[in-house]
Amino acid sequence: MVQTEHKNTNRVKIGKSFGSASKSYDVSARLQRFSGKHLMPWLPNRNDLTVLDLGSGTGFFTDLLASTYNQVIGLDISNEMLHFAKEHRNKKILWLEADAHKLPLQDNSIDFIYSNLVIQWFDPLDEAITEMLRILKPGGLLIFTTLVDGTLHELKSSWKQVDDDQHVIDFKTVTELNTLFNNENGKLVEQKCQDIVLEYQNVIHLARELKGLGANHLAQKQNRGLSGKDKWFKMTEHYQDFLEPSGIYPATYRLFSGLVVKLNN
Ligand SMILES: C[S@@+](CC[C@H](N)C(=O)[O-])C[C@H]1O[C@@H](n2cnc3c(N)ncnc32)[C@H](O)[C@@H]1O
Repeated sequence: MVQTEHKNTNRVKIGKSFGSASKSYDVSARLQRFSGKHLMPWLPNRNDLTVLDLGSGTGFFTDLLASTYNQVIGLDISNEMLHFAKEHRNKKILWLEADAHKLPLQDNSIDFIYSNLVIQWFDPLDEAITEMLRILKPGGLLIFTTLVDGTLHELKSSWKQVDDDQHVIDFKTVTELNTLFNNENGKLVEQKCQDIVLEYQNVIHLARELKGLGANHLAQKQNRGLSGKDKWFKMTEHYQDFLEPSGIYPATYRLFSGLVVKLNN
């Protein structure tokens, strides 16, 4: 019970963190744009379909989906993201404020779910997978990208040399994803994993981009010993080990793309 409350509070925090980034998000979303577009070849080529964009954010891809498919729903936990999306996107889209762990949609009602860089926030992930498979029609598809273990390893290891706090979220491994998505109701039929290395002028630039993406909710924590500033400085010194000869700071994002089909049971 206490653990469930903790997880719910955490989800509210994630939503707020993304919400406060809703206006700056589209400019700092280089990775999102790349990964979202890269899912396009897996999209069904019929257009009489009902589609859910799960964790729709500012609605950039929801808008693209609405230019092809009959009925498009954008769902997000952050009402600020939804507010931005409602103002800027195709008026035929239906927007829902909800948590992916408790979807306000009927069983067997959606032809496919599109979800770009959202699943890494789900906790517990198996609960959200059960929900996604519940609302999909038999034979329906879940087309998604997420980040897996190895993501931001430069930042993780630089912080590790400073303290034992958790500064970067725990990403699932590819093996864990395979175990979770292959179950009695679903099968992971296609998958791809690739490293995307983005370049930054300095560590502040990286931190700003993570903040701009709303992915910084772990950063607000108590500091013991050294002050927050000193720790930050020490971390940036360790990050120099990864510096490229051109003076650019790299950050690795390990991108996993998956295509899951709901089995006809
Ligand atoms: C990195 S953004 C991606 C947004 C969008 N898919 C895109 O490609 O631009 C992640 C989004 O997931 C939403 N999100 C995080 N946890 C969620 C949850 N439990 N239920 C629904 N949405 C969630 C956040 O509010 C945020 O808008």
